[in-house]
Amino acid sequence: MIQIAIDGPGGAGKSTISKGVAAKLGIVYVDTGALYRTVGYYVRNKEIDPHDRDAVGAILPEISIEVAYVDGAQHVFLNGEDLGDKIRTPEMSMYASAVSAIPSVRAFLLETQKEIARKNSVIMDGRDIGTVILPNADLKVYLTASAECRAKRRYDELIAKGQSVRFEDVLREMNERDTQDSTREIAPAQAAEDAILLDNTGLNLEESIDAIIALVREKTDFFAN
Ligand code: DC
Repeated sequence: MIQIAIDGPGGAGKSTISKGVAAKLGIVYVDTGALYRTVGYYVRNKEIDPHDRDAVGAILPEISIEVAYVDGAQHVFLNGEDLGDKIRTPEMSMYASAVSAIPSVRAFLLETQKEIARKNSVIMDGRDIGTVILPNADLKVYLTASAECRAKRRYDELIAKGQSVRFEDVLREMNERDTQDSTREIAPAQAAEDAILLDNTGLNLEESIDAIIALVREKTDFFAN
C-alpha cells in the first residue's frame, strides 16, 4: 500500500498529473475537490448562501455521497445521481471553495476520504491532504505554478469543454479562490512541513508526471518489491 498526497492551488495541474501518475503506478486517483464541489452543487440547488454556516450545516444530513472508480475514473454520486461534469463549472468552483471553509462540511467529508485511503493504494489531491487527511503519507508533494500559467491552463480546460469564459475572469476568480482557500481558519490550503515543493511552471504534463514518479522512486519503497 502506498499513500501519495498532492496539494496545491487551483490550476497547478493536480488532477491531470495525479491521474497520469495513478495510471503509471496502477493505484487509485482520488479527487477530493469533487467532494466539496458536490456539496456546493447541492447547496446551490437549494438556493442556500454557501457562506451561511448554519444553513449549510443544517442540510448536510440530506446529503449522501458515494464514490466509485470505473476504469480509473472517479464518479461521485449525490443521493444516487452521478453528477459528471455538472460540478466542473466556474460557479461550482466558487461554491466548493465557500462551503469548504465551513468546519461541519470538512467534518462531513473527512471519513469518506480516510476510508478510501484505508482500502486502496492512492494518490489523493486536494488542499489539506498532506496536513489533515493523510498526515502519514509516504510522499507529500505541494504542486504549484505561476498564477498566469495556472489561469491559462484552467482557461484552456474550460474552453475545451465548450464553456465561454474570459481569461481575465478566470485569472481573477482563481486568485480570489486561492486567497479564500489559503486564509480560511480551518485546514487552510498550505504545504505540509514535510511536503516537497514542485513548481511546474515550465513543465508540460509528461514532465510533471515524470517528476513525481522520480520522487516516488527516490522517497518511497514502492518500486523496491
Ligand atoms: O481541487 P478543486 O478545484 O476541485 O477544489 C474545489 C474547492 O474545494 C477548492 O477551492 C477548495 C476546496 N477543497 C478543499 O478545501 N480541500 C480539499 N482537499 C479539496 C478541495
